Amino acid sequence: MSKTNTKSLTNKNNSLMKTSVWSRLLMTGIVMSGAVFLMSSALKKVQQATPWVAPAAADTIKNPLKGNVKSVEDGKKLYAQNCVVCHGDKGKGDGIAAAGLNPKPADHTSEKIQKQTDGAIFWKMTTGRSPMASYATTFNPAQRWALVNYIRALRKEPITTSAKTK
Ligand code: HEC
Repeated sequence: MSKTNTKSLTNKNNSLMKTSVWSRLLMTGIVMSGAVFLMSSALKKVQQATPWVAPAAADTIKNPLKGNVKSVEDGKKLYAQNCVVCHGDKGKGDGIAAAGLNPKPADHTSEKIQKQTDGAIFWKMTTGRSPMASYATTFNPAQRWALVNYIRALRKEPITTSAKTK
């Protein structure tokens, strides 16, 4: 082997080593972002699996507008403008923005929602939970009770329908 050949071989080895350092860094990067991705999707699953339960104290909050017909109408308007995009125009949780959300928007006509107290629904609306915002500052208490009253009004329709079909 000539001297030049040996030198070029050593150079080649050096550059090979450099490449392997870079590829190792790259691999570490890929592995780490993979781990971050797995962790975040695991977190999402945990959040999805965790039922949203209002504290017991929320059940004692009295609805000052219970049975107020005007309040239901106010609630209907507020709902159409602010909630339908996610919860759907019948409150079934199938609004146009629902598909991309995790967890999915609640079906307000469902037993799961309707069996909760007015106070618990009011509390959830006031507190919010990602991806739903808190409505504590957007709406005053009367407006939030109006929304509770409208959510109650959503129940009647599906219950009458299922009673008829049975
Ligand atoms: C950005 C989409 C979005 C909008 C807009 C939105 N919500 Fe929600 N809402 C959600 C999602 C998602 C959940 C489920 C959250 C969870 O389970 O953690 C939810 C849950 C709820 C719940 C609790 C249901 C339960 O599990 O007991 C209530 C009550 C509620 N929304 C009312 C409203 C009202 C009233 C409005 C309009 C003022 C509204 N939401 C607007 C997405 C939205």
